[in-house]
Amino acid sequence: MNVLVVGGWGREHALAWKLAQSARVQKVFVAPGNGGTARDSRLENLPITDLNALTEWAQAQRIGLTVVGPEAPLALGLVDLLRSKGLRVFGPTQAAAQLESSKAFSKAFMQRHGIPTARHQTFSQADAAHAHIDAHGAPLVVKADGLAAGKGVVVANTLAEAHAAVDFMLGDTAGLQHNAGGARVVIEDFLEGEEASFIVLCDGRNVLPLATSQDHKRLLSGDLGPNTGGMGAYSPAPVVTPEVHARAMREIILPTVRGMEKDGIPFTGFLYAGLMIDASGHPKTLEFNCRLGDPETQPILMRLKSDLLEVLLAATEPGPHGRLDQVELQWDRRTALGVVVAAQGYPQAPRRGDPVEGLPPDADDARVFHAGTLLDADGRLLSSGGRILCVTALADNVRQAQQRAYDLLAGIRIDGMQYRRDIGHRATRH
Ligand SMILES: Nc1ncnc2c1ncn2[C@@H]1O[C@H](COP(=O)(O)OP(=O)(O)OP(=O)(O)O)[C@@H](O)[C@H]1O
Ligand SMILES: [Mg+2]
Repeated sequence: MNVLVVGGWGREHALAWKLAQSARVQKVFVAPGNGGTARDSRLENLPITDLNALTEWAQAQRIGLTVVGPEAPLALGLVDLLRSKGLRVFGPTQAAAQLESSKAFSKAFMQRHGIPTARHQTFSQADAAHAHIDAHGAPLVVKADGLAAGKGVVVANTLAEAHAAVDFMLGDTAGLQHNAGGARVVIEDFLEGEEASFIVLCDGRNVLPLATSQDHKRLLSGDLGPNTGGMGAYSPAPVVTPEVHARAMREIILPTVRGMEKDGIPFTGFLYAGLMIDASGHPKTLEFNCRLGDPETQPILMRLKSDLLEVLLAATEPGPHGRLDQVELQWDRRTALGVVVAAQGYPQAPRRGDPVEGLPPDADDARVFHAGTLLDADGRLLSSGGRILCVTALADNVRQAQQRAYDLLAGIRIDGMQYRRDIGHRATRH
């Protein structure tokens, strides 16, 4: 079977690498791919980003399964398009992807179905939003309704920060995508606790949890600096104890999948609940993403022993819903940890075009997944985005995985590269 992975970041490199391990896979195409997928003989980059052209190509090639990585093509309806041509695809429809593509939709859904999350209000008028901020007081959190690639959330510790966030997000200078109905912001209570990424597979009705993980959103060690797309992750996340896991499934994941089905928008694909777990182990939903996380995917798939193709075929079995209820995932008991290497100037203005050198050879317990890289005409590996690499290692515990990843990273040379020195710091405390 030939498989297509849509996207070109670290998540897609890890997905393509994992799918290529399946005995039933002949070729994995990656659209558009990156320098890492270009260098793997089992994978083939496909320089097509137009969704209609991609669909026509997949139809002409009789692609057996398509997996959509990032949120943008999901929010634009790529899954609906592929299905309309009778093609098998794993991911949410455009309507279901609103759980991520519209924070207002997502919060209203959670409220309607009694799913634990921060109290909130949605505003399209700046005056009303400003009045609410003054009445509420800081800290509070301001979120742009539409997709914002990590630029859409401000955790405001002062009223001034909150007011500025509203003016930025409702103003027309922000360059943010707005959903139908125009610019809106969600203003919600600030939640205390520890974060975790709780990602499951859904087939419209059945749910299969993936291993837990924890990302590091802030740019700098010590959780300082601006929010980013994520500077590193590890799996499993000890903060998600068996009790927290059971609560998250019972109070958040299952009511969400049931609620979507009841609302006539069955959810298929990866459902990612961003959790805030308070001191007494109660998880609340910060947000939903309708895709795998990046960089969480890299350590999670390093630990997955099951054949990912077989799992996704079970999830996309033709019919009202798949048969994930008949699948059990096998996991490597070890810990995996990935450190992101970012370009100088990331996240505001990342530098591109720097040679990427000193990459360690891949090993059973360590891999470098590429994100912002490309091969130039002379076959040189160059940086091409903010987040460039994710150096990922497996070991018996988080400290050893940390040590292994940083040892490998020590040999890598990219001018101006930046990375955090403390990925996994919370796990070493548990
Ligand atoms: N209510 C809240 N209380 C405290 N911190 C919050 C709250 N909501 C969001 N945050 C912080 O802001 C970060 C980003 O928020 P959120 O996950 O909603 O946005 P996002 O832009 O969709 O992120 P992602 O890129 O992970 O999808 C969270 O990881 C968390 O650190
Ligand atoms: Mg999100």
